[in-house]
Amino acid sequence: MIEIRVLLPEHYDHLVSLWEKAGLPFRPGGRDSREEICRQMEENPDFFLGAFLEGELVGCIIATFDGRKGWINRLAVLPEHRRQGIAQILITGAEDALRKRGAEVIGILIYEDNVPSLNLFQRMGYLVGEDILYLSKRDRSES
Ligand SMILES: CC(C)(COP(=O)(O)OP(=O)(O)OC[C@H]1O[C@@H](n2cnc3c(N)ncnc32)[C@H](O)[C@@H]1OP(=O)(O)O)[C@@H](O)C(=O)NCCC(=O)NCCS
Repeated sequence: MIEIRVLLPEHYDHLVSLWEKAGLPFRPGGRDSREEICRQMEENPDFFLGAFLEGELVGCIIATFDGRKGWINRLAVLPEHRRQGIAQILITGAEDALRKRGAEVIGILIYEDNVPSLNLFQRMGYLVGEDILYLSKRDRSES
């Protein structure tokens, strides 16, 4: 039985291992470093959710709220536990946390060749902004 629980600083190593096993790109020297993640968890404990199966972390999601919109980040499910609806449960949990914070719009950035994720979010009611490009400016390459 899948259990969704808030992730704590003590879960950091499991979180990183999950991202690695899921093949999810992340930024260990920047915003995903232990120090940064623990700081973010302290500020918004309800935004870090884990899916646990018999005590093992098998999925995760991070929500963020910028004051105008909510965002979904770092969603991952272990390969051997996919296609069982775990990502959908995590997304619903993140959406609930963001709505409680006042978010009426929730966004997600997805690589255009990530078909599983594109299918997943469209199935969850998200619309693709066909004419939008993602631009970013970084103070450090690893941020
Ligand atoms: C994307 C990911 C999180 C989906 O996790 P999941 O728990 O398997 O997803 P769900 O079981 O909730 O899937 C729900 C729906 O999404 C779509 N979907 C999920 N995986 C899919 C795949 N490999 N191919 C096509 N559609 C897929 C389907 O519509 C699926 O419903 P169905 O199983 O009834 O057909 C998982 O594949 C993953 O961790 N991928 C690597 C990391 C990643 O890309 N994260 C997202 C970054 S934006």
